[in-house]
Amino acid sequence: MIEELEAFRQKAEGELAKAVTEEALLDIRTRYLGRKGLLTGLLRNIASVPPEEKPLFGKRCNEVKEALSARIDLLLAEQASAKRDAVLLRERIDATLPGRGVRYGRLHPVTQVREEICSIFAGLGFSVVEGPEVEQDYYNFEALNIPKDHPARDMQDTFYVEDNIVLRTHTSPVQVRIMEKTRPPVRILSPGRVYRRDSDISHTPMFHQIEGLLVDRGVTFGDLKGVLTVFLKQVFGEDTALRFRPSFFPFTEPSAEVDIRCVMCSGKGCRVCGQTGWLEILGSGMVDPEVFRNVGYDPEEFTGFAFGLGLERIAMLKYGISDIRLFFENDLRFLEQF
Ligand code: PHE
Repeated sequence: MIEELEAFRQKAEGELAKAVTEEALLDIRTRYLGRKGLLTGLLRNIASVPPEEKPLFGKRCNEVKEALSARIDLLLAEQASAKRDAVLLRERIDATLPGRGVRYGRLHPVTQVREEICSIFAGLGFSVVEGPEVEQDYYNFEALNIPKDHPARDMQDTFYVEDNIVLRTHTSPVQVRIMEKTRPPVRILSPGRVYRRDSDISHTPMFHQIEGLLVDRGVTFGDLKGVLTVFLKQVFGEDTALRFRPSFFPFTEPSAEVDIRCVMCSGKGCRVCGQTGWLEILGSGMVDPEVFRNVGYDPEEFTGFAFGLGLERIAMLKYGISDIRLFFENDLRFLEQF
């Protein structure tokens, strides 16, 4: 019997030496050491062992069982760790590689200027309103007292979508729409895209405007001057010199264009200001009584002022940009500077 046990042990070790997979090891364990395995079979034959050898046989059986069991555990552990190593090797990451970094977005310079202007006027009690970019002839021209034969109606200046539908050429139509719906006092700011058939170093077919409107009882040209002075000094600096120049717009009377002392040459005269020392910044004026009549306001009861400016122009002067087309090329080398 002892010899049989020894043969059993050698056979098991021979198989273990060849087992390369976890499944093979588990199979050997079941076949040799399992409850219905070969060792159990041997032990069942203990009856045929002479009585004096029984204790020794039992002891050896246990020794063989423990030895084999320990060996299998060891081999299984080696398997598991080899498997883990293989996974680690396959999924190795190089922790010394520099990271990819996060690229921060930034606001477009035109957006920055728009937000700055809106927040200055918010402080003066104005609220921001918007309206359609594809606009009826009536709101873009007619209601604003721009008669049918006015040069601004020329196909050269305006994109016509249909006979009576245009791409708005300014954001003034928004003000008409608001006045139609509300009674004074009105204090609004209308920023947005506008379109004109124009394209060169200082004009693009689409650009951005902000227009403002204030209507109430007893509003005077002095209020217009006061509000625009506060506004322009906040944008261009406290000691910016201003000048109000008589002008004409169909929807305001009287009208004034507002210039600031040239930010490039401080008034000495340069290429940017055309040697005049002044830069034209915005158009403004007291709302024409005809416009009030068109929206059902009594011009004897209410007066008001309006103004309009181009955002790209303000951004160009503020940041010293010489070509308006740079705003629309989406070149990051340009946009990242603001
Ligand atoms: N709507 C005018 C323009 O687009 C600007 C303006 C607005 C002028 C209000 C005077 C008063 O050119």
